[in-house]
Amino acid sequence: MPEHRSSREADKSLAVQTFDLGRSFGSLIAVDCLNIDIKQGELFALLGPNGSGKTTTINMLCCLLKPTRGTANVMGLDINREAHSVKALIGISPQDTTLSEHLSPLENLELMARLNNMEAKKARKYSADLVEVMGLQERAKDQVRRFSGGMKRRLSIAMSLISDPAVVFLDEPTLGLDPQARRALWDYIGNLKGEKTILLTTHYMEEADYLADRIGIIDAGKIAALGTAMELKAEVVDRQTVVINAWNLTVASLDAIKGRYPEVKVNGGQVSVAGKDLDFKEITDFVHSTGAIIRSAYFKEPSLEEAYLKITGKELVA
Ligand SMILES: Nc1ncnc2c1ncn2[C@@H]1O[C@H](COP(=O)(O)OP(=O)(O)O)[C@@H](O)[C@H]1O
Ligand SMILES: [Mg+2]
Repeated sequence: MPEHRSSREADKSLAVQTFDLGRSFGSLIAVDCLNIDIKQGELFALLGPNGSGKTTTINMLCCLLKPTRGTANVMGLDINREAHSVKALIGISPQDTTLSEHLSPLENLELMARLNNMEAKKARKYSADLVEVMGLQERAKDQVRRFSGGMKRRLSIAMSLISDPAVVFLDEPTLGLDPQARRALWDYIGNLKGEKTILLTTHYMEEADYLADRIGIIDAGKIAALGTAMELKAEVVDRQTVVINAWNLTVASLDAIKGRYPEVKVNGGQVSVAGKDLDFKEITDFVHSTGAIIRSAYFKEPSLEEAYLKITGKELVA
């Protein structure tokens, strides 16, 4: 493989730094010339739809998959040339969790610790601590196969932390969980913030918005935008939405509203008017004049969803 170094300067203080990192599978470019920086202690979210290259990126950074172009440093070490040292510094919770179903959380963790050459006593203590950190103490000795999806995910994250890694990779940690379990998991991940550098992938917009210090939007293997949720939302700052909840929204009144404003969305008794330089009073007066009875009305802040739509030109279909 030809040695490829981009013109970017290496900064050894960064937790992760990629240099034109890419991976092709035959003619398919799964990840294309990625240049991202993740600071130490930062929680960085790679947000993108299925097939956009998130897992491929993680696998390269974890030295599980060779790049076909470029390289990356993890804690200042090169993933191509110093894979062995990189592996000793990282933890990964893969997209498809790899737990031993017939073992308990404590046994799973101790096994992993021992595989990491941790001595027995320390392994036991670390495992017990992590079981508590991840809220699994009441089920610490039950077989994993009886666990809910959320509990398995929590254990998978505990497994990624067992060697006290500097950088943790969480690949779609809340994939397939119901909203309640997802929220609970956010609290656990949130608790790790600042303590560990975390690269998390997700295709859930709210997850990136809620958890991440910075977000990289990835689309078809390329970073489409990068910044804090606030910075990304600033992309659509000139776009506003007036949301009106009303009774008596008849077909005729909805037709009149849709005829007057270019962008109108209706959802049950709720009408949202979007656009630039909206006049709140003019809109509510008009809706009122159609015979609707307004219960509440407010200006909505631009959402990450709107920013995503503007940046990528498409909706993020989960
Ligand atoms: N081992 C592989 N062989 C061929 N194609 C692959 C392989 N792994 C991933 N891909 C393809 O690369 C693209 C990115 O996949 P992936 O990184 O898994 O995306 P994501 O994690 O964002 O869903 C997809 O088109 C996927 O089909
Ligand atoms: Mg994936």
